[in-house]
Amino acid sequence: MKRLDVVKQIVPPLSSSLQTASAFAPANIALCKYWGKRDSELNLPMTSSLSVSLGDKGTCTKISVNDQDKIILNGDMLSLDLPFAKRLIAYLDLFRTQDHLHFSIETTNNIPTGAGVASSASGFAALVLALDKLFQWQLDKKYLSILARLGSGSACRSLWQGFVKWHVGVRVDGMDSVAEPLSIEWPNFRMGLLIFSEKEKSMGSREAMQRVVATSRFYKEWPAQVADDLNIIEQALSQQDFDLLGKTAESNALAMHATLLTAQPPISYYLPETIAAMQRVWRLRAQGVSVYFTQDAGPNLKLLFLSKDEKIIKENFSNVEVIQCR
Ligand code: DP6
Repeated sequence: MKRLDVVKQIVPPLSSSLQTASAFAPANIALCKYWGKRDSELNLPMTSSLSVSLGDKGTCTKISVNDQDKIILNGDMLSLDLPFAKRLIAYLDLFRTQDHLHFSIETTNNIPTGAGVASSASGFAALVLALDKLFQWQLDKKYLSILARLGSGSACRSLWQGFVKWHVGVRVDGMDSVAEPLSIEWPNFRMGLLIFSEKEKSMGSREAMQRVVATSRFYKEWPAQVADDLNIIEQALSQQDFDLLGKTAESNALAMHATLLTAQPPISYYLPETIAAMQRVWRLRAQGVSVYFTQDAGPNLKLLFLSKDEKIIKENFSNVEVIQCR
């Protein structure tokens, strides 16, 4: 099934358009990762996943009807030959109601683009929210989540703040592979961003997960690991058991990286600074501080801790940016 077939099932055929619309969506960080696809056209995952959104850290996108396509990323006009621009244009093609309908997209991230801090997730989520306003679809967020997934899998979780679960689904058209916010409040929950490199990563998560699924023997263990981790994380969330949550999220991320290291050819996102920070986290834990980390397809770490430990975390990680997830 093609992406356009899914879009046609969701989007009203005759929608009028405003001239311009803007929207914001938060970045999200998975505590139990989405890693591997059963359908790469529709970004249908092998497993469910669970994330937390980053409050006011994310992407603002303004979309306007224009006489030609134009993309401005963080104030810079992009050449439409760049891979990022091509991916965006191909996505916009799904929503052109007439052949001559073109768009100008102005998108601004307040998180480092391409540094493994999920800017593609907030980017596609903000774009879908802006399209919903531009075309006045007024779609339920469940459907916006599906549309965002067609841009980037993890984007389907960026339509909400707080803790969000993306259900794997079983249908071939993916209409049941949607994200849903969990009714969990945890005001003391904190995430600390440790940025070691703002450079674009050497290999994007899309290509990396493809190689892992095709070549890593460890990937066979991944679905069972996720099933266990998701159960434990949901239990830890409902009981507000922070250590159980942190321990499970950290081990889920390490297992994901084990599949990367065992791919052929191997993929490593570690910088020396990444390893040093991981060891510091483990040292602090041995001293009784409840701090854990998670890592995506990039060298940066995200620390997980509670507000009561913010002071000690800042003393130990001078460059940490603390985010109150809500
Ligand atoms: C490691 O959502 O970027 O961040 O669906 O190919 O666009 P595509 O992949 P993407 O992958 C995110 C992978 C991850 C884990 C996660 O966010 O769950």
